Amino acid sequence: MKILAIDTSCDETSVAVSHNDSLKANIISSQIEFHTKWGGVVPLIAQRNHQEKIDIVIKKALQVAKVNIEDIDIFAVTYGPGLAVALEVGIKKIKQLAKKHRKPVVAVDHMAGHLYANFARNRNSVPLNPILFTKDQSLVRKDIFPFLGLLISGGHTEIILIEDHLKFSKIGETLDDSIGEAFDKVANMLGLGYPGGPIIEELATQGDEHRFDLPIAMKNSNDLNFSYSGLKTAVLRVIKELGTEAPRYDPQEKEGIPEPSLCIPNLYQPTLSKKPIYKLNKQDILDVAASFQCVAYKQLKNKLLKAIARYKTEFVVIGGGVVANLYIRRKLRKTLGREGVRLIHPQNKKLVSDNAGMIAVSAYYQALDAQFVDIEELDRKPRLSL
Ligand code: KG4
Ligand code: ZN
Repeated sequence: MKILAIDTSCDETSVAVSHNDSLKANIISSQIEFHTKWGGVVPLIAQRNHQEKIDIVIKKALQVAKVNIEDIDIFAVTYGPGLAVALEVGIKKIKQLAKKHRKPVVAVDHMAGHLYANFARNRNSVPLNPILFTKDQSLVRKDIFPFLGLLISGGHTEIILIEDHLKFSKIGETLDDSIGEAFDKVANMLGLGYPGGPIIEELATQGDEHRFDLPIAMKNSNDLNFSYSGLKTAVLRVIKELGTEAPRYDPQEKEGIPEPSLCIPNLYQPTLSKKPIYKLNKQDILDVAASFQCVAYKQLKNKLLKAIARYKTEFVVIGGGVVANLYIRRKLRKTLGREGVRLIHPQNKKLVSDNAGMIAVSAYYQALDAQFVDIEELDRKPRLSL
């Protein structure tokens, strides 16, 4: 079956075309440049950009896949979680296409997509994570179930038990901020721009992760939940102690522009917020970034180890934008390895951040299970949860 999938859940307009679970095209048009100066995603800017880009990205995906729209068998779309006004654009487009071409629609949960990114095959139908497939690569192995999923993104920090295809039970989640949000907020406090994750990761490579004693939240709680807001507050306390108060650089103001808090021109991004920031010297910034990242990881580790002890699974499959973080991935792989557990992550950069390829893969398994929706009923679900 040929699938065309759309994801417009946040600040990427993405369209993929697949043949079953083999991705023939996975086009991502990022809007980050339009949001960076605001220090986060602005919903109406996201919506307008999706509207402007969606047809172009669909055309490109079909071109790259060498498929005619008339040959598409199934249309798939992310219907949540995400920004309501952004989700709306993809849903509206998929309804138009499905009506015009009289084809069924599959509605996909964005977070299921992040997990199913791990089951993708490339355009030559080779599984990107062969260990999850039978020896002849024809099917996903039955004995990988049940396995644990760890979702770490801008809006989510969750542990999911996957008992069979598309059978998700959430067994742990953050009680406040997500890990990606914490990266973004800490970067913001340091005046480093948005998105914060990649910047913090890069700076942390030069910092001393043991310099500051930051709290590991919910260390002794027996549940599998997380909390990242205390860590963020602790980092702010450290920043206040180290720094001198300085007005933020506001590009709309001609005067009083302080030196950027860190002279890495390509990384420093101004923000329009007028809240004061604290000017730190370079080494302090590097050490704050490293110490924060280290504790952010330790919190994941603690709860994952608890989940593994409880559910005794052989695999942990990870998904979401924070999976791009090599420090976290390496540390997790080592820690899980000691427990005899394999860490699986999407084997392609495009499949880590928000993309429609992962939506096509989930849609394939949903279609096999006849999970089609009535397009008149289909609506955005910004708070959808696995
Ligand atoms: O999955 P995603 O692209 O969007 C959501 O569905 O939320 O995740 C975006 C999040 C942002 O918070 C971003 O800062 C974080 O992923 N991120 C990272 C890295 N790259 C992206 N966090 C830590 N280290 C990174 N290298
Ligand atoms: Zn995402």
